[in-house]
Amino acid sequence: MTGTQDTAKTAIVTGATSGIGLATAELLAARGHRVFINARNADNVALTVKQLRDKGYEVDGTTADVGSPEQVRSLVTSAVDRYGTIDILVNNAGRSGGGVTADIADDLWFDVINTNLNSVFLTTRDVLSVGGMRDKGWGRIINVASTAGKQGVVLGAPYSASKHGVVGFTKALGNELAKTGITVNAVCPGYVETPMAQRVRQGYAAAWDTTEGDILTRFEAKIPLGRYATAEEVAGLIGYLASDVAGSIAAQALNVCGGLGNF
Ligand SMILES: NC(=O)c1ccc[n+]([C@@H]2O[C@H](COP(=O)([O-])OP(=O)(O)OC[C@H]3O[C@@H](n4cnc5c(N)ncnc54)[C@H](OP(=O)(O)O)[C@@H]3O)[C@@H](O)[C@H]2O)c1
Repeated sequence: MTGTQDTAKTAIVTGATSGIGLATAELLAARGHRVFINARNADNVALTVKQLRDKGYEVDGTTADVGSPEQVRSLVTSAVDRYGTIDILVNNAGRSGGGVTADIADDLWFDVINTNLNSVFLTTRDVLSVGGMRDKGWGRIINVASTAGKQGVVLGAPYSASKHGVVGFTKALGNELAKTGITVNAVCPGYVETPMAQRVRQGYAAAWDTTEGDILTRFEAKIPLGRYATAEEVAGLIGYLASDVAGSIAAQALNVCGGLGNF
């Protein structure tokens, strides 16, 4: 890919101790970028940094909850102190969450929206301002949304609402920044085999009074490709969007879903 010849840049990948975030951090680091990561669990951040450094990559990180304005500011400041101003931001951290809407507790709704949507605003704003991106004339902001950000997911109203919000934010900011050299795009995974996907299958198995194996079979039957995507396949598109050659892709929401979403 042409993007592999890009010069080394500084990237933040949120929620990079697991799944799609981890695969993305590794891909960007393998391309020679300096990658700063975060998650809430300090042990997992330290372990991930060590594992990636052991492979020879330039990686550091800190604990931060992306739903906290103070912790997001601290995350971005730490990344700048460590590696300089930010060229690439991957807003990946997120959570699942839903249920029968009439029974959803306030705390669940607020936390899903805060973790998945408010976080994207907070991190993006701070990377553009204190992270220095808006003064650089080049930047890449990639938001991990979901096919649930384009269609409604049964028993997933908070999640679907949050991801539709991420897609809307992406389109608006992508247009706002289009002439600045900063592109803003969303990647919309369908079903991706990660720890989150396992938790989602557990939730549906409980809600529909069946086994996780049965849920897996039902979900795979909905995917034209017949299988979940891998975290590496999603990271591949994120890495492409982060490259120089993707410079004319702006304000888009692109699916990695095995044909699940035709939109
Ligand atoms: N897997 C799928 O099928 C799928 C499909 C569509 C979209 N997505 C989206 O893809 C993204 C990654 O999902 P995944 O499947 O890779 O999930 P995952 O395996 O559960 O990993 C989530 C990562 O985010 C971190 N995280 C969660 N909440 C956080 C918070 N409040 N602040 C900071 N970090 C946080 C987790 O670490 P800590 O718990 O230590 O904080 C972990 O590193 C999410 O935005 C998700 O909605 C996933």
